Amino acid sequence: MAHLGVNIDHVATVRQARRTYEPDPVWAAALAELGGADGITLHLREDRRHIQDRDLRVLRETVTVKLNLEMACERAVCDIACQVKPEQVTLVPENRQEVTTEGGLDVIAARDRTAETIKRLHDAGMIVSLFLDADLKQIELGKQLGADAVELHTGCYALAKPGRAREAELVKLTVAAKEIAAAGMTLHAGHGLNYQNARAVADIPHMDELNIGHSIVARAIMVGFQQAVREMKQLIQ
Ligand code: PXP
Repeated sequence: MAHLGVNIDHVATVRQARRTYEPDPVWAAALAELGGADGITLHLREDRRHIQDRDLRVLRETVTVKLNLEMACERAVCDIACQVKPEQVTLVPENRQEVTTEGGLDVIAARDRTAETIKRLHDAGMIVSLFLDADLKQIELGKQLGADAVELHTGCYALAKPGRAREAELVKLTVAAKEIAAAGMTLHAGHGLNYQNARAVADIPHMDELNIGHSIVARAIMVGFQQAVREMKQLIQ
């Protein structure tokens, strides 16, 4: 059975639009736990465009399920991870221009830096997951570098047209999943998963964790909007 990691970055994105105190991702994380989240995922980006250092520190105190920090292989953010010690770190590529993470980490190109980051995180007692495309060479090297888990990038699957193209992407993910499990690593997946396409990925054999953010935050706005307006209307009348 796949566990659900809820990515709360977008809650912080709304807060940062006004640089105010609301909505607080810490509050959202508590509600996610009440909704059954098995983990809380957040990405501390170098440009701090959404999640702030304070969010990570407070979430470390309040989250009672698995805390999964997404980060790039950067020394400064690795220092923070080693101080705060979330249960798990997922290493992702990061590019200042991107709207969101655009693809898996290229561990072949960044072998030394990845190896060094994995070692530091392991020495500090964290589980390390690598966000990778469904590429067997990358997965093999991830294993050699000592990763505990691989999060398969599902962005191409999510963007593929329903039908043949999406089926072909699902086959690629399934083949890669088999390799990850055979190598003794835990299987995670995420990016672009929503209420229409997540089930098929959850059903891939050995799937242990799905990390989902955008579609859950988008749905939360829609299911909560009517009540929020009703409350304001009552207040001003
Ligand atoms: N997994 C990783 C590694 C990510 O970078 C992201 C986006 O921050 C997600 C999962 C969640 O993706 P989405 O917001 O599209 O559900």
